[in-house]
Amino acid sequence: MSPGGLAAKVVELSREASRVVREHTHLTPLSPSATLSRLSRAKVYLKYENLQKTGSFKVRGALYKVFKVKGRAGGVVAASAGNHAQGVAYAGSIIGMPSVIVMPEYASISKVEATKSYGAEVVLYGRVYDDAYVKALEIAESRGFEFVHAFDDIDVIAGQATLGLDIVEQLQDFDVIFVPVGGGGLISGVASIVKARNPGVKVIGVEPEAAPKMLYSLKAGKPVSIEPKYSIAEGLVTKKPGELTFQIVSELVDDIVTVSEEELSEAIYLLLERKKTLVEGAGAASVAALLSGRVNVEEKKAVAILSGGNIDMTVISKVIVKGLSKARRVVRISGYVLDRPGQLKRVLEVIASHRGNVLDVHHDWSDPRIPAWHAKVTIMFETPSIQATNNIIEGLLREGYEFSLEG
Ligand SMILES: Cc1ncc(COP(=O)(O)O)c(C=O)c1O
Repeated sequence: MSPGGLAAKVVELSREASRVVREHTHLTPLSPSATLSRLSRAKVYLKYENLQKTGSFKVRGALYKVFKVKGRAGGVVAASAGNHAQGVAYAGSIIGMPSVIVMPEYASISKVEATKSYGAEVVLYGRVYDDAYVKALEIAESRGFEFVHAFDDIDVIAGQATLGLDIVEQLQDFDVIFVPVGGGGLISGVASIVKARNPGVKVIGVEPEAAPKMLYSLKAGKPVSIEPKYSIAEGLVTKKPGELTFQIVSELVDDIVTVSEEELSEAIYLLLERKKTLVEGAGAASVAALLSGRVNVEEKKAVAILSGGNIDMTVISKVIVKGLSKARRVVRISGYVLDRPGQLKRVLEVIASHRGNVLDVHHDWSDPRIPAWHAKVTIMFETPSIQATNNIIEGLLREGYEFSLEG
């Protein structure tokens, strides 16, 4: 099928998909953000798909696919360590089909448990996704189940397109939309709807610098494989775009921009602090791109899709500490004190007198590089302001302790 024909097919299928999807999902909010509008000098609207059932948009494609499969197979199988797993598990139980999800052995316990809780049988297999994928095909064959691809499937794309339908109904007109790109299912669906409604709207795909597979494929003129690196946006780490998704993206998407790990982490932090909303790395990519200045959005109406909110607790805490350090709200200072009783207490008193709240103290006298009879003290503390930090360092100097800021 020609790319134009593919997009038209997606639009056609999306009508049926939306009946199935709307019955079993939330209509997530689409609302303006004053903070992001000010920072980007655009009029920014956020689509809160992180608040969707199962925590991401993935449930849309899964619901429509499982609905289509019902009656022609005994069940569904998927291979995924992430949101697709939860989407298919949920869809299976809602539509009334058994589901088997094959996850690589490293999959996080919380994701395995969430997938089981939606009623799926979870099989842990292999070290990487490719092993799990082969196992899933085997299970499909032996049990007469149908394999549900995470993105390269016209029904899955039509299911993701229902997110585009929501957006064009919730906001009549806009100039540009930012969409995260993993295998390309979401952007293919959304671009098909948005461009059919108004070809003038710019559709911008966003990939992590660690996994620019769609960008490289577009340059090569065909889907190519890359060796992705680690990214906090794990949902966007795919080796290769799909055949169908590549065709639709080549035809309809205006540009692909990449964002750094730093930008992704800052976007998660900003959304948490200012919008009180929790997104995962992939879910923050659109906002990271919007704020990066790589696309001219000045005075334009821009939509950013927050595609998912399933982030590990340990990752959130790292993002917060990093964000606080960057804003100089948490700082680390170090210096030498005499290794005598009461010295550390005096240092801590100076910090407290300027309302510094100590988070961590490291006291080391054993390193041979430390001057004799001294200890190196490193203190991390929360501080009310940069001025308070300066006052603390000056206060310590007046007491005879030479401390300096680290990092
Ligand atoms: C939260 C989130 N956003 C975006 C994507 C990318 O979707 P696609 O693979 O359809 O491009 C994924 C994929 O898993 C995801 O989990």
